[in-house]
Amino acid sequence: MTITEKKNIRLADRISRISESETIAMAKLGRALGAEGKKVISLSFGEPDFFTPDHIKEAAIAAINNNNTFYTPVAGIPELREAISLKFKRDNNLDYKTDQIVVSTGAKNSIMNTVLALVNPGDEVIIPKPFWVSYEDMVSLAEGIPVYIDTDVEADYKITPQQLEDAITPKTKMFIFSSPNNPTGSVYTKTELEGLAAVFEKYPYVYIVSDEIYEHINFVGKHESIAACGNVYPQVITVNGVSKGFSMTGWRIGYIGAAKEIAFACEKLQSQFTSGTNSIAQRAAVAALTGTLEPTEKMRLAFMKRRDLCLSLMKDMDGIKLNNPDGAFYLFPDVSSFFGKSADGKTINNSQDLCMYLLNKVYVVTVAGSAFGNENCIRMSYATNEENLREAITRIKSALSELK
Ligand SMILES: Cc1ncc(COP(=O)(O)O)c(C=O)c1O
Repeated sequence: MTITEKKNIRLADRISRISESETIAMAKLGRALGAEGKKVISLSFGEPDFFTPDHIKEAAIAAINNNNTFYTPVAGIPELREAISLKFKRDNNLDYKTDQIVVSTGAKNSIMNTVLALVNPGDEVIIPKPFWVSYEDMVSLAEGIPVYIDTDVEADYKITPQQLEDAITPKTKMFIFSSPNNPTGSVYTKTELEGLAAVFEKYPYVYIVSDEIYEHINFVGKHESIAACGNVYPQVITVNGVSKGFSMTGWRIGYIGAAKEIAFACEKLQSQFTSGTNSIAQRAAVAALTGTLEPTEKMRLAFMKRRDLCLSLMKDMDGIKLNNPDGAFYLFPDVSSFFGKSADGKTINNSQDLCMYLLNKVYVVTVAGSAFGNENCIRMSYATNEENLREAITRIKSALSELK
C-alpha cells in the first residue's frame, strides 16, 4: 500500500475552512454531460474566449529565444514593474513607483498575498455581496472574519457610504471589492467611489483592496480607481493584471500597487511561496502593457454587443429581474420568483436547484448565486459566441416556462 492509498489522511484544518470553487465544479458537471454526447452550452466561463493578441505572443517567443528563462527578481523584472508604474499613471492617474509594485502569479495570487500580509486571525474583513468567489475563502485561510454588506438588484448591487460606515468596527482591517464586478457587472462611478472614500478617510486603519482586473471591460467610459479618490491612496492596495483585458488568463500575471511597506511584505511572502512568477509571461506582460490597446478595444466592443444581445433576448423573460451590467462579461439575473415552483416532479428551492435544473433539463451550464454570496441569482457568462448565447437563452426560456 502506498502512502496515498492509506485511509484517514490527516489534512490540516485550514483545508476544511475553504471550499472548491463552485464555478469550477459546475464546469466539471457540464463536461461530464458533454462526454455523454449531450449538446451542452456553457455559460460558466470566467475568461474571455479570444486569443492572446499576436504582438504579445511574439514577445513571449522572443523571450524564449533570448534565453529569458532564469529566475527573476521576486517582485518582477524591472522592465515589467516600470511598465506597470507607467500604466498606473497613464490609465489611472496613480503614482506607484516601481518599489511599490509586486508582480505575482495572477491577480488571485496578488490578492492572496495582500490578505496574508495584512489580516491577522480575528480581524474583520468587509466584503460586499455579491462577491468574487475567492475573497471569502482567502479571508478564511488567513483566519480573518468576513463581514458582509448586502446589496440587491434595485441598488445595481452597489453599496452606499452609509452601509459601509455601519459595517466598520474597531476590528475592521480590510475591505475588498471589485469594480467592474464579477458576478454582477456593476461599475462604481467616480462620484460613488468618492462617497465611499469619504467614509474610509475617517478610518485610516482600514485597508482597501481594490480589485480592478476587469478595468478594460467597461461599457460606460473611463475606468475609475478608488486610490485616486479623496485622500485614501495610502490605504489602498490596487490590484490588476493582464488576464481579462488582454485575454491572457493562462499566462498568470497579476500585480499590486501599494504602500512600499505593504509591497515589501507581499514580496517577502512571495519569496517563500512562489518566487518571481514565470519569466516568459512577464516579458509578454510588458508587451501587453506597453503595446497597442486595439485588440483590447475590439474585445470590449464584442463583449458590449453580446451584453446588449443578451439583455434584448432576456428583457421579456417572465419572472427575471436583471440589472444593466456596465462591465465585465456576466449577467446576474434574480430568479427567486421561481423558487417553490416545480417541473418533472422536482421543486426548485434555491439558486443551486435552478442551476441543476437548467443543466439537466436543457444542458445549459450556469453558476448558482450562492457561490457569490447571493441566494436569489444565477450567474451567466457571455464569454461565448452569439450563436451559443441565442441558443442558451432560448433553452433557458423554455425550461423556465415549464416551472409551475
Ligand atoms: C473579480 C476577479 N478578481 C480576480 C480574478 C483572478 O484573476 P487572475 O486570472 O489574474 O488570477 C478573477 C478571475 O476570475 C476575478 O473574476
